[in-house]
Amino acid sequence: MLQIQNLHASIDGKEILKGFNLQVAPGEIHALMGPNGAGKSTLAKVLAGHPAYEVTQGAILLDGQNILELDPEERAKLGLFMSFQYPLEIPGVTNFQFLHSAYNACKGTVSEAEFEKILQQKMNMMNMREEFKDRSLNEGFSGGEKKRNEILQMAVLEPKMAVLDETDSGLDIDAMKIVADGVKQLLTSERGLLLITHYQRLLDYIKPDFVHVVVDGKIVESGGFELASKLEKQGYNVY
Ligand SMILES: Nc1ncnc2c1ncn2[C@@H]1O[C@H](COP(=O)(O)OP(=O)(O)OP(=O)(O)O)[C@@H](O)[C@H]1O
Ligand SMILES: [Mg+2]
Repeated sequence: MLQIQNLHASIDGKEILKGFNLQVAPGEIHALMGPNGAGKSTLAKVLAGHPAYEVTQGAILLDGQNILELDPEERAKLGLFMSFQYPLEIPGVTNFQFLHSAYNACKGTVSEAEFEKILQQKMNMMNMREEFKDRSLNEGFSGGEKKRNEILQMAVLEPKMAVLDETDSGLDIDAMKIVADGVKQLLTSERGLLLITHYQRLLDYIKPDFVHVVVDGKIVESGGFELASKLEKQGYNVY
């Protein structure tokens, strides 16, 4: 479903991704691990279509279609979702307005009243209080609340291919479980998931089919779930 082929990408003239290859089939969960600065978030942003990055070589195919020429909105409409490592605050736009607009753009127009029902169900699932509907998007949210709100967005949009960038960082023990349960409820045999994480804990909840180690802009080792515990013990110095 998602094919990343020999991807090279740069920012401000500096090459960060240096021949990145990855294939995610429907129903598969992949985890990306690796040292700080390896290019994991860069990959997520290039997938989403962040305009600051220049792709100099390679291709990204979603269901066989090269999406590199598409803008972020068009990629989202095709079912690609990304949660940010550092979610943005948008003062003056309520969470409700934001999610309603995103829903309408990606899944077809529904009225405010109809969306209210959809959102309520998703907020219950994520154990989020009513007040988060009417607060400005992420403004003043705690670190963990922002992360949980990212997964609320995912739950609302029900994407085909989701990329979650360090969603687990900053979550308390209970929130980690709620987020993991929320993500698991969204998994089907048609959907793919790419989890970027530093910790095995999330992977204990959402067991990945494949774990990949990213070092200096490319994957240097791939394996099964057991690779995560090996990394926990040995670190990244061996690469
Ligand atoms: N504008 C820029 N100019 C030069 N280098 C940059 C620029 N923006 C990002 N980088 C570099 O790109 C590299 C990859 O960053 P990225 O955020 O993708 O790492 P990461 O693997 O997600 O790390 P972490 O685990 O800390 O989140 C880093 O070394 C970063 O400093
Ligand atoms: Mg990162």
